[in-house]
Amino acid sequence: MRSVHISLGSRSYDILIGSAVAVDEVLPTTGLGRGVAVIVTNTTIAALHLPRIRSALGHAFARVEVVELPDGEEFKTWGSLNQILTALLGWGCDRNTVLFALGGGVVGDVTGFAAATYMRGIPFVQLPTTLLAQVDSSVGGKTAINHPLGKNMIGAFYQPRVVVCDLACLDTLPLRELQAGIGEVIKYGPVADMSFFQWLEGSMEALLAKDREVLADVVQRCCEIKAAVVSSDERESGMRAILNFGHTFGHAIEAGMGYGVWLHGEAVAAGMVMAAELSRRGGLVDEVFVRRLTALIQRAGLPTKGPILDASDNAARYLELMRIDKKSEGGEIRFVLIDSPGKAVLRPVPDALVREVIDVCCE
Ligand code: NAD
Ligand code: GLY
Repeated sequence: MRSVHISLGSRSYDILIGSAVAVDEVLPTTGLGRGVAVIVTNTTIAALHLPRIRSALGHAFARVEVVELPDGEEFKTWGSLNQILTALLGWGCDRNTVLFALGGGVVGDVTGFAAATYMRGIPFVQLPTTLLAQVDSSVGGKTAINHPLGKNMIGAFYQPRVVVCDLACLDTLPLRELQAGIGEVIKYGPVADMSFFQWLEGSMEALLAKDREVLADVVQRCCEIKAAVVSSDERESGMRAILNFGHTFGHAIEAGMGYGVWLHGEAVAAGMVMAAELSRRGGLVDEVFVRRLTALIQRAGLPTKGPILDASDNAARYLELMRIDKKSEGGEIRFVLIDSPGKAVLRPVPDALVREVIDVCCE
């Protein structure tokens, strides 16, 4: 089994990467494994992967309970958070109860937020079942729910005790969801590691075919990059923002289209092309870089253009949505731009330039 360490003092933990991992066997290293385990998942994942996880946790815990949420980004809400908290209270769960998030980024984000808030914080474990969750959302302790006015606007930084990335779970992942995960994978190249980007250019077909070794290499490298960033800036007071490359435009697309219409990774993919074009128009990178990024996104089967959110003034609608962003300061939107390939910076950009980019990058 491969492992990547997140170094955060008393909140440090490991990301374990393997195939058909027996969760109960990795728990002893974390000190967890008695009392009550509560698995939070959704109806789709429950049908595919719950029996194996429930039976494994049955070996380690006296009692195992399950909360099944409805499936979808549109359920990353107060309602789902409340469903989890109400179940915990109803079962008389105490501070030793361990929450297990079995699912993609939606289940992981809302379960993490429930763990952060129930009795002011109980332990939780991430069992990510999508590529996106294994390379990004399960790692680093960002937890959240959406608000109709803005994506991920309500949440907490709260680290899991361990993350177990079981590559065998990805066997059942639909192609569109795999592709959305590849959107977040591609992100790590322009912001941190262009040799990884180059390797991806040569490995895209194998990745789309779910080659197990390539998946293991991808999950490990992305987690290594994320671990380095999170270990140096856990609460995003500076460099962690680079992991949001493409997300300012992407979040506007998700909220503007209605949550769940565009997948998060799809919105980020189109958002990265827009942010790269913004970087080019700001004099930071050349057209060759923008074309190279666009080509890889296209080869992953992801969108390279944003949708029209408002036929009467599309740019105004994007700008309105983008102002509600955690990186905004005093109403000024700050974008993650590519300073040079492999290095990102966070900067405000004049609205006029942003408008130009939206006009050429949406259809
Ligand atoms: P998701 O959680 O909605 O999962 C995608 C779909 O795949 C769902 O329908 C799910 O039921 C299904 N699914 C999950 N695992 C499966 C499997 N093994 N087999 C078959 N189907 C499976 O979406 P996602 O792409 O995993 O996550 C997106 C979310 O993650 C967004 O809400 C985004 O904001 C969040 N996110 C958070 C962070 C963070 O740092 N916390 C980072 C990136 C993204
Ligand atoms: N996904 C961005 C972050 O974790 O900071």
